[in-house]
Amino acid sequence: MKSSSLAVGLFLIAIFGSVFAEDIGPDTCGQDRKVLSSWFISHGSPRLLLAPLPPLFMNVTEDPYEDPNKPPLSPEDIPGFCAMQWSNETDPESGNRLYTLQNFDTVVEAQSAGFIITHEGQCAACSSLQDLGVYMSRNLTTPTRWCGVLGLFSPELEIQCMKDLGFSEECASIWHWNVKNTRSKCLEVCIKSFIEDEPFNKPDGSLNDCLQCDEDLSGPNFKYYSGRTRRNSGIPSAIQRPESQIYDMEHCYWYGTLDFPSDNSTESIWSEALEFLG
Ligand SMILES: *[C@@H]1O[C@H](CO)[C@@H](O)[C@H](O)[C@H]1NC(C)=O
Ligand SMILES: *[C@@H]1O[C@H](CO)[C@@H](O)[C@H](O)[C@H]1NC(C)=O
Ligand SMILES: *[C@@H]1O[C@H](CO)[C@@H](O)[C@H](O)[C@H]1NC(C)=O
Ligand SMILES: *[C@@H]1O[C@H](CO)[C@@H](O)[C@H](O)[C@H]1NC(C)=O
Repeated sequence: MKSSSLAVGLFLIAIFGSVFAEDIGPDTCGQDRKVLSSWFISHGSPRLLLAPLPPLFMNVTEDPYEDPNKPPLSPEDIPGFCAMQWSNETDPESGNRLYTLQNFDTVVEAQSAGFIITHEGQCAACSSLQDLGVYMSRNLTTPTRWCGVLGLFSPELEIQCMKDLGFSEECASIWHWNVKNTRSKCLEVCIKSFIEDEPFNKPDGSLNDCLQCDEDLSGPNFKYYSGRTRRNSGIPSAIQRPESQIYDMEHCYWYGTLDFPSDNSTESIWSEALEFLG
């Protein structure tokens, strides 16, 4: 490992690891957010999905940021809704119910087919309920940046780190390209944000320069290929966005009981980070 990349890595840890506030959302559906989140993580694996999979539900194997023709649609033009339906079939190994993900043009069409909306826009790589669970849990921005720092040294470590957070293989694949692109195009402005100790939002409510760079340069492909974002799933984050950008919804479609231990995946990432730094 070159010492210059180590310096950059440490810089990024400093930026994203200590300065930024944590994501804290309110409880949802009358349930503790962390309990609900860990239920979706343990009951929503993409391996439980019934065929046919939605066309964009895939591992993103090629860097979309390298292709000027991508994304095929800009974020404002992405239509419809991604909806889910529990099946009565179970997975013999886990005993968990299988489920279907399907695109619909309207909420009414989804509901009359017996489906429940899981996010606005098309189903894609992060639409599984497992990834919903990860998005719903707190403390997301900081650890995903940390995984991005690991990616400076090894792409394999980065993907493993994202999977340790609970992300599916499919969702980790588009996060990987996103973080890589932001790292190469926004590094300078992000280091500047750090030196100036900028909060997420400027006083007028707009994003800080680092987040704005990420939004402008990495946002469009990410939104297209991930499908699910916190915003289009109604999940708040520490980054303030205009109300109109957050789709108003809740995720009350669990079955069985919710008495799961709190999700401790984030803690394991932090111990990984500390171990890595020696
Ligand atoms: C993504 O890759 C994993 C691991 O190689 C594989 O198990 C999974 O089926 C792939 N997903 C899709 C939607 O093809
Ligand atoms: C599962 O079974 C219940 C009760 O029999 C039924 O109402 C429901 O429609 C079934 N779900 C599916 C997806 O077939
Ligand atoms: C976020 O993570 C930190 C440790 O990384 C922990 O101390 C804090 O309590 C967490 N916040 C929430 C709301 O879970
Ligand atoms: C989370 O906690 C459970 C018990 O509370 C433990 O069995 C499990 O190994 C922990 N997971 C991680 C990743 O630390």
